[in-house]
Amino acid sequence: METFDRQFCVAPMMQYTDMHDRYLLRLISKRVFLYTEMIATGSLIFGKCFNQLEFNTEEHPVGVQLGGSNISDLIECSKKCEQFGYDEINLNVGCPSDRVQKGKFGACLMLEPDLVAECLAAMKNSVNIPVSIKCRLGVDNHEEYEFLYNFVSIVKQSGVKVFIIHARNGILKGLSPRQNRNIPPLKYDYVYRLKKDFPDLEIIINGGIKNLDDSQMHLEKVDGVMIGRAAYDNPFMLKDIEPRFYNVDSSTNSKKEVLNQYLEYVERQIHNGHNLSRMMKHLFGLSRGDKYAKSFRLKILEIIKENNLKNHKNELKELLVY
Ligand SMILES: Cc1cc2nc3c(=O)[nH]c(=O)nc-3n(C[C@H](O)[C@H](O)[C@H](O)COP(=O)(O)O)c2cc1C
Repeated sequence: METFDRQFCVAPMMQYTDMHDRYLLRLISKRVFLYTEMIATGSLIFGKCFNQLEFNTEEHPVGVQLGGSNISDLIECSKKCEQFGYDEINLNVGCPSDRVQKGKFGACLMLEPDLVAECLAAMKNSVNIPVSIKCRLGVDNHEEYEFLYNFVSIVKQSGVKVFIIHARNGILKGLSPRQNRNIPPLKYDYVYRLKKDFPDLEIIINGGIKNLDDSQMHLEKVDGVMIGRAAYDNPFMLKDIEPRFYNVDSSTNSKKEVLNQYLEYVERQIHNGHNLSRMMKHLFGLSRGDKYAKSFRLKILEIIKENNLKNHKNELKELLVY
């Protein structure tokens, strides 16, 4: 049985929300729901990125995001992910990159709602954990609300109840993935309308959400918010989720404490063969807004360059004010 909610989620982000980043985020917020980077079914099946499934038990609740549209591959990968201990499996129907389009998955699947429904139904029937979808409002010139309405009407027949909506269109030709996260306009009102039209679905809104004030405004209209870049750039913003939205005292006291615990984790993981620079880069945002933020970031760069944490650990700690 689910013992978590998705009122606050951190978005899946390739090269960013790896197991180390998720460990760091969990030190800051006990409630936020975390997602892996997208893992393509092909690479999982051929064993290329089996290590991408690795996660720390402390990360729960954590969902894995799959990219694919081949039904038997999705079933196989869903089972594998459930065995690994993930709390949810999410299907990516939002990524517009050329590579992903060639593999016939991601945002281009918004044009094939029947296939998406079939994929999701098969995934759902093969596991006992929740299955969710992350999609866009539409693709290319399908700008009207009716496109989204039609997509969701068909896809919900799979029995999937959790819809994470990146509130802008995906442009399949002519915009890079990065531009696709900034240029198509955000239309939050479409997502609000979706919740009104499908009150039985759990609707989570994503795109351009900067802070907890924004989140509070959205939560009046939908069931949850998903924050991506803002949470990565300033992870400590998540610490107020518990006191502000759950009426419980945050167990996180200070950035210094978070840093101490994360550095202990890094030292353990170095022994397990993990890469120091990959783990340290997630700390860049921790000093955001602080007096010595720049020196803190420079110190991290020095640690990465010298591939040596031990010699600089105490200096790094001193650069955090509280
Ligand atoms: C570097 C980067 C990598 C991303 N990788 C993924 C991904 O693997 N799967 C996915 O569904 N979305 C991915 N996204 C999109 C985010 O999940 C999110 O939808 C988007 O950034 C908008 O939310 P934001 O404005 O809060 O960042 C990525 C975004 C960024 C910035």
